[in-house]
Formats: sequence, C-alpha cells, structure tokens
Amino acid sequence: METRPCDFTIFGVLGDLSQRNLLPSLYQLEKAGLLHTETRVIGVARHELGHDAFLEEIRAKLQTFVREPLEPETTERLLARMRYVLINLDVPEEYKRLLEIIDQRMRVFVSYFSVAPSLFGPICTGLAHAGLVTPETRVVLEKPIGRNLASSREINELVASVFSENQVYRIDHYLGKETVMNLLALRFANSIFTTNWDHNTIDHVQITVAEEVGIGSRWGYFDQAGQLRDMVQNHLMQILTLVAMEPPVNLRDDSLRNEKLKVLKALRPITAKNIDRRVVRGQYGPGFIKGKTVPGYLEEKGGILGSTTETFVAIRVDIDNWRWAGVPFYLRTGKAMAAKRSEVVINYKPLPHNIFADSYRSLPANKLVIRLQPDEGVEIEMLNKVPGIGNGLRLQRTMLDLSFSEAFSKERIAGAYERLILEVMQGNQALFIHRDEVESSWVWIDSIQAAWAKTNEPPKPYPAGSWGPVASVALLARDEREWEE
Ligand code: BG6
Repeated sequence: METRPCDFTIFGVLGDLSQRNLLPSLYQLEKAGLLHTETRVIGVARHELGHDAFLEEIRAKLQTFVREPLEPETTERLLARMRYVLINLDVPEEYKRLLEIIDQRMRVFVSYFSVAPSLFGPICTGLAHAGLVTPETRVVLEKPIGRNLASSREINELVASVFSENQVYRIDHYLGKETVMNLLALRFANSIFTTNWDHNTIDHVQITVAEEVGIGSRWGYFDQAGQLRDMVQNHLMQILTLVAMEPPVNLRDDSLRNEKLKVLKALRPITAKNIDRRVVRGQYGPGFIKGKTVPGYLEEKGGILGSTTETFVAIRVDIDNWRWAGVPFYLRTGKAMAAKRSEVVINYKPLPHNIFADSYRSLPANKLVIRLQPDEGVEIEMLNKVPGIGNGLRLQRTMLDLSFSEAFSKERIAGAYERLILEVMQGNQALFIHRDEVESSWVWIDSIQAAWAKTNEPPKPYPAGSWGPVASVALLARDEREWEE
C-alpha cells in the first residue's frame, strides 16, 4: 500500500456527485483511519465562500448524505483537512490560486473532475497553465466520457495532451462494488469454477441490472443519453468483461485491463440487419411500483412528449472467441422496473443423459446465481434426492445459498466510491478504465445506435413496475430460453 499523503482536490466540490458520493466516502475513509494523516482535501467551486462558510456547507452535506449519525470527532478530523479554492474553471489564470495550497514535494496532487465533461478540457489547460502538472500528478475522470466514439476520443485526446495514460483514472463505480470485485474471487480462487467456465459446460449467461427508480429529476441529462449509453456502455460492459475474460496474470494495473479489453474486441457487432433479433428497446409508461402510481417517462418532470429515448434495453451479445463460441450473453437493464435487482446468472448445460427419467422426465440444468445487489450473495441451484424410501428416487430442486450479510456479518460493506478513492490515493489503476476499453466499448455501442438510427423503430412501451416490454421475453423465447425471475 502506498503511504504518501495526497492533496485530494475535488473540482465541483459542491455538486451532486461530490455531495452524494465523494464527501460521504471521504468521511467513511476518515472514520476507518484509512486517510494518511497528512492528506488534505481541497474543494474547488465557483462560489464566493470564506473558509468557515465552506466548512459549514460541507458539514451540512455530510449530515444529509452520510447514511448514519455523524461521529463528531471523525467529522472534525475530516473538516480539519479541508481547504476551499474559488476558481472559475474557464479562466486559466485562476488556477494559479491552487499554487498557494498545493505542495507537490510533500503530497501527491490528485485532481478529481466531478464536473460535466465539457469542463475536462478547461481544467486540464488551467492546471498545465499554472504549472501544476508533474509526472506524479493524477486525474480522476467521471463518466460520461463522450456519447459516442468520436466524442470520447475528443475528450481522451484533450486529457492526453496534458496527462499520460498512467496518470489517468477513469471511474466506473461498478468496479468499486464489493460483489463485482467478488466475481474475480469466485472465478479465479475456486477450482470448481475455473474449470467449468466456458462453452463446454455453460449454455448461456444472463446479466440483469434492474432499477426500481424512474428518471425523476434527471430528465434533461438522461434524455440525451438513454439507457444504452447511461448503463450498458459502462457498467454492464464491465460486468460482462469480468465474467467473460481470460484469467489475468495478476491483479495489477494492466493485466486485468488487457484481458477485459480482449473481450470487448471480440464482441460481435450488431447491425441494422440483425438488430430486431438481438436488441429490444423499451420506454416506461405509467404504472405501479410497490403499490404506488408512478408516472411514465414522458410525464416525468421536464419530460417532452415524443421523446424516443430508451429507458430499457435487452441485448443478446455474442462473443467471438474460443471460450464463448455458441454461448450467448443476455443483458438487460432498465429504469422503473419491478424491483432493484442486479445479478449474473450462469446457466449450465443440461446433462447428456438422464438416468432418473422415471421420476424426473427432464432434468433442469444447474444454475449459479451471483447476486450483485441488493441482498448480495451467491446461490447454486442443484438437484437433490428427496429423503424417503416409499416413493422411489425422487429429486427436488434445491438452493445452496450464501448470503454475504450472514457469512460476513461483522464486516461493513464499503461503498464503491470509498474503495475507488482509496485506490487512486494508493496509485493503483487496475480498477479504472483504460482509454482503449472506453473506446472499444463505444465502437460496439455505436454499432447499435447506428442500427437504431437506420431502422428508426420507436422503443416498445412497458408499464413502470414490470420487467420490461414483452419483446424482451420473446428475445430469449426465440432461443428457447427464459429470463431468471
Ligand atoms: C449511474 C447511472 O452511473 O448508475 C444512473 O448514471 C444509475 O442512471 C446508477 O441510476 C446506478 O448505480 P447503482 O450503484 O445505484 O446501481
């Protein structure tokens, strides 16, 4: 573990991401004693604020967004690390104000860009202009990195004109989630899975990331993005690559990222010719969630009638490599669905011959269910004999169910941003997205966007509180399969 202290600088310290995720995570790191004693947190924003007023703002944000009563001592220790700098991010001259605070001989200068991507360029220019960029400086970029390959290249180029790739930490917060990381442990620390993880034993894989919440107040942003860009290009692609990749040589920086990249490069493109059999696009209408009436996407605050932005996507993904030949991966993700549920289901192949045909005509195949959130855990669905002597040899489906909250009841599950902030401070890039990964995943996503543009089909409606449009069921039924419910 690197022990050097940091000047951890948040651009956009009073913004939504910072107050919801970064500040509460820093609080938890402080509480756990994981921040170096000399580390400081520097907030940058464009408001006129004195030091004390800034600390009061931060205290109020912590009170609202840390999901437990604040410990006064931890709060004071964190506030004692904090400084505020007013910078109008478009004005390069103003970055010189950081020179009075940042000391790169003493601390690693980390800049967290918690702002719209249109400001990444101006911040890079400002930092370079102030002479604040050294080979040790690190930058953390939040998504979205572009809305297609061309715009993501533009952003990456801007950043690359000031920072080299080994200084850039692109966040996908799913890589900070405990259960997403556990995919690595499951796959590469357990011989039963390392040897049963390819086309010989697996029939197909399902990845579901369902959210119960609708778009709420984020209509303006979301309508420009849609579920494919907002969730598939990043989070689902990351889960997919962790499930599908070859074993990395180790868990350090590029080993893991290179293996993920190979999967992205092997994704079969989707075209206007096959899109109707490969992709389902949906948009929620009014419905009920947990017994309450909820509005449809177009009736949400700020909604504009006629929008064809998708809030649901289901995709059959084929990976053209040796390991996964003939094994489809079905992805689905949506807003305003029946429940918040993220999981990976590995469906094994049926057995070649059934010796229990007298009592069980067709043996259901084994399933490995990896519950990512909520109720994190792992289940194996298997057949066992029902005890008894009078009824012949009866079999029953049973579950081996490991719930993390029971198995690790003493451990607190850290939030994704806590882990990722710590990794940046320690200078470990393995859990951050390499530029090549971002661009390869955009190539594939762009192929779907282009096919949609060509076919010009509107999204299929689904009622809020359901599992998506009926066509999503048909996507699997066509292959004689069904979604795990
Ligand atoms: C974000 C998306 O990246 O992830 C949001 O922009 C989505 O639309 C969120 O709601 C989901 O994250 P989580 O951690 O709640 O699964």
